[in-house]
Amino acid sequence: MSAPLHTVPEVVTVRAPAKINLHLGVGAPRPDGFHPLTTVYQAVGLYDDLAASDSLSWSVSLTAADYIDPADVPLGGDNIVDRAADLLAAHHGLARLGDVHITKAIPVAGGLAGGSADAAAALVALDRLWGAQTTDEDLLGLAAQLGSDVPFALMGGTALGTGRGELVTTLADHGTWWWVLAPSSAGMSTPEVYRHFDLLFPDASPTPPSADRLLAALESLDPVRLARELHNDLQEPAFDLRPDLEAVIALGEAEGALRGIVSGSGPTCVFLCASADEARAVAAALDGPRQGEGHPVVLVANGPVAGAHVVEYI
Ligand code: C5P
Repeated sequence: MSAPLHTVPEVVTVRAPAKINLHLGVGAPRPDGFHPLTTVYQAVGLYDDLAASDSLSWSVSLTAADYIDPADVPLGGDNIVDRAADLLAAHHGLARLGDVHITKAIPVAGGLAGGSADAAAALVALDRLWGAQTTDEDLLGLAAQLGSDVPFALMGGTALGTGRGELVTTLADHGTWWWVLAPSSAGMSTPEVYRHFDLLFPDASPTPPSADRLLAALESLDPVRLARELHNDLQEPAFDLRPDLEAVIALGEAEGALRGIVSGSGPTCVFLCASADEARAVAAALDGPRQGEGHPVVLVANGPVAGAHVVEYI
């Protein structure tokens, strides 16, 4: 006798990656307060998993890696996962039902878009759990409402971001790039870093700096050239707010990284390395001195990797 055919699963687990910005060009704020961006995102191999299970009610719970303080993740009903579920349910006229469990490895408020990864994972997992069959276009539209980085978390790979970062176009990237990630135990507020950008650069052009040189470096597949072209307009404001970050960058570069840069709005510092072995050596060198100084862990990750994707479907 064949098993009954069921079209909707009981549990769907989706894995979503952290992102770094290889180029983050920021322009003067728009009338809506957001900053126009020309950015190049890369998804890297550090992931949150989100499992959504069939339920007659709604709940969100969390298990976090030992270097993450679970108290930093708001679970009181206003998590970005709650908002993702609300939006998707409203889009289809469905009730918001499910038990969601997040297994978090992406540092919180770290400039690595961990919250955006969870939102993207929630959209994909709940779409499958509810059998909602949302089109890719609609999913990207819902993602954009949740946050500027969420569409990229769905897409993954390496991509050009424009608008406020939510308009994403996949880029051909044939490289495998090796990164060391040095998160900080104290997160930074993205709006605060943008406000500080406005203070430092009151005459910023409305057109953000182009990513052309970075794109040519990506195509060259040469990590030395890519290192040279890494660019982040939020780095100076981040350094101003957190002067300790400059020393982290200097240490990683002294230990052999090709280049260190603040990731997004910080405070995570990311280091491009020439190879996997170099990355492991730089991570080992950074790990000792940073322990106990507000840098709870040093991680190695390569990119590009896939965006939010189903890893378990029961
Ligand atoms: O879009 P998201 O919710 O991630 O943005 C968080 C905050 O970061 C915004 O409220 C805004 O203050 C700032 N931001 C910005 N310009 C962008 C993206 C974010 O000013 N392009």
